[in-house]
Amino acid sequence: MAQYDVIVIGAGPGGYVAAIRCAQLGLKTACVEGRETLGGTCLNVGCIPSKALLHASHSLHEAEHNFEKMGLKVAAPKVDWKQMLAYKDDVIKGNTTGIEFLFKKNKVDWLKGWGSIPAAGKVQVGDTVYETKNIIIASGSEASPVPGADVTVDETVVVTSTGALALPKIPKKMVVIGAGVIGLELGSVYKRLGTEVTVVEFLDNITPGMDGEIQKNFLKLLKKQGLEFVLGAAVQKVEATKTKAKVTYKLRKDDSEHSLDADVVLCATGRRPYTDGLGLEALGVEMSPRGQIKTNGHWQTNVPGIYAIGDAIDGPMLAHKAEDEGMAAAEVIAGKHGHVNYDVIPGVIYTAPEVATVGKTEEQLKAEGRAYKVGKFPFMGNARAKAVFQGEGFVKLLADKETDRVLGCHIIGPGAGDLIHEICVAMEFGASAQDVALTCHAHPTFSEAVREAALACGDGAIHA
Ligand code: FAD
Ligand code: NAI
Repeated sequence: MAQYDVIVIGAGPGGYVAAIRCAQLGLKTACVEGRETLGGTCLNVGCIPSKALLHASHSLHEAEHNFEKMGLKVAAPKVDWKQMLAYKDDVIKGNTTGIEFLFKKNKVDWLKGWGSIPAAGKVQVGDTVYETKNIIIASGSEASPVPGADVTVDETVVVTSTGALALPKIPKKMVVIGAGVIGLELGSVYKRLGTEVTVVEFLDNITPGMDGEIQKNFLKLLKKQGLEFVLGAAVQKVEATKTKAKVTYKLRKDDSEHSLDADVVLCATGRRPYTDGLGLEALGVEMSPRGQIKTNGHWQTNVPGIYAIGDAIDGPMLAHKAEDEGMAAAEVIAGKHGHVNYDVIPGVIYTAPEVATVGKTEEQLKAEGRAYKVGKFPFMGNARAKAVFQGEGFVKLLADKETDRVLGCHIIGPGAGDLIHEICVAMEFGASAQDVALTCHAHPTFSEAVREAALACGDGAIHA
């Protein structure tokens, strides 16, 4: 029976990163994973496959709408769905086998199978019980059922994101329940592939929690792309046959009942922690009412020697948040000072244009009664964006009115998911809007729009 310093349960972005960092810090480490491949939700059925399909469908859109404008004459593009799925699967494989390579390189043992914790200091996989000084639970999350509605997921006609990433054919009509990140990313994929997409959302706006101005503009852009929205609607039930489904919802404003027919219904109303089979109840590990494993500021549960990270604990369900916690927890176990700054975790929606956000929204600053200023710059004033037909959207920078310290940034536009990191770094260093504005930005880049927004917090943008 092997004796480990650390056994990590789950090889998603939280778990595999934690395992690699533990090994790098000199700890004898194993990682238990029940799936056939490493990488968790993110690499197998989440971030990576969805980005592959977003890329392929965006490329189709470019070919259909922009090639001719640039003098590129090609035959009308056709979609070979089987090949598109094969491309997506290849991308997944490249990434998951990459983690296998990293495990070997860093001498992390992969214990194949589903793990449980019979007692603190022990992890059982199959019939084998391993001894370990520390355990990190990184068991991730699963799709939540649609709240308050009668819906049975079959992953063929009524699907979660997992089914939506591997549909046997491109549906003619799709109803998406939930206008959050999954609904809008995958809704965009199918819209670009020719599906009629209607998004039904409980609230009166999309992407709850985002800056209000971004929500409104994002909704406008998505509508312009042909996605349809029913807002303020509570889904009651989904009735499905083997090939069709009917979604019944009530409008919250007048309680009137309506229905929509679809070939596929995508349920995307959030995810919940997955901790089944770990034996946490018997161990007495404290959980929140929402099923999250409770941890302190050092990712320790109430049971000594058991840590938890990623989607299984509190906080945004994002791969990079899980990764950062994985590194930090490893450092804590190795006697170092692991740290995650939860105030500076970016969020990105990989639609076209992308949406990216970090720090406070204008609504949050108002609620806090904090005096702030806003610097905004539209991508229409950015030469590079216009040249590549991506002049839609804007950068919105929020800074403290007195000190000029950057408090948040919200971007819709080309490369928003990359641009946001300039502001993440600025916020980590406590920079002012003027610090960003006085930093030379190469021309012509999308990044100049961030600088112009920072200039707009002071004496004014140049190109607006
Ligand atoms: P997971 O990635 O869920 O990994 C947990 C792993 O633990 C799984 O492989 C599971 O099999 C394993 N496991 C669980 N229990 C056991 C057990 N008892 N024994 C052995 N193994 C076990 N986030 C982003 O930041 N960017 C994105 O673009 C993005 N896109 C997404 C798209 C979709 C469609 C979805 C569904 C999610 C997306 N996410 C994205 C969210 C992201 O996938 C998660 O936040 C991230 O995967 C969480 O990492 P984790 O390590 O906590 O858990
Ligand atoms: P979400 O929390 O982003 O959005 C769920 C939406 O469903 C909300 O708008 C909510 O108001 C709505 N809703 C809830 N109940 C409803 C009902 N009964 N009827 C209609 N609408 C209802 O959840 P989503 O999109 O499922 O994503 C889950 C998680 O995965 C997110 O927390 C996200 O962090 C992560 N993710 C991240 C991505 C990224 O970073 N690009 C991509 C995809 C997922």
